[in-house]
Amino acid sequence: MAVERTYLMVKPDGVQRGLCGEIVSRFEKKGLKIVAMKMMKISKDTAEFHYGEHKGKKFFDSLISYITSGPVLAMVLEGDNAVAVCRNLMGKTNPQESAPGTIRGDYCMVTGVNIIHGSDSVESAQREISIFFRPDELVEYKRDSDKWIYE
Ligand code: RTP
Ligand code: MG
Repeated sequence: MAVERTYLMVKPDGVQRGLCGEIVSRFEKKGLKIVAMKMMKISKDTAEFHYGEHKGKKFFDSLISYITSGPVLAMVLEGDNAVAVCRNLMGKTNPQESAPGTIRGDYCMVTGVNIIHGSDSVESAQREISIFFRPDELVEYKRDSDKWIYE
């Protein structure tokens, strides 16, 4: 097993459209373990730091105004190969190319308003978790259902 933690966030459109429960439910049902979760409004500075890899691209300013336009639901999820598993559940960046059954494939229409963020590598996950959560907000616990989820 390669147990990983990843950073996920329901973007402002998902919160406004009342889809937080639906989205969290998909990760939970898959078998991912919730390690941390909170509602927050992201400052412009934090948004620019979080999405720093995209600075200078033509969509950067609209991305920052989108992600700071309302509260987000931030979470840390844990599981075997969690980074890739969560990216698969999210679907492709462009929702018109995301497969049906994925979150973006089922719940949104355009890249600029694509409902969810997820870390794209273990390194990005560590970086993003440390931006949005203090170490003491990451809850350590044993989940009894793990024996029914993993071999
Ligand atoms: P995210 O970081 O939000 O999980 O999305 P991602 O990895 O699937 O895609 P990424 O390339 O990292 O892009 C970050 C977010 O920027 C917006 N975007 N808009 N208009 C455009 O061409 C464009 N390209 C990217 C999207 O909100 C995308 O999720
Ligand atoms: Mg990305």
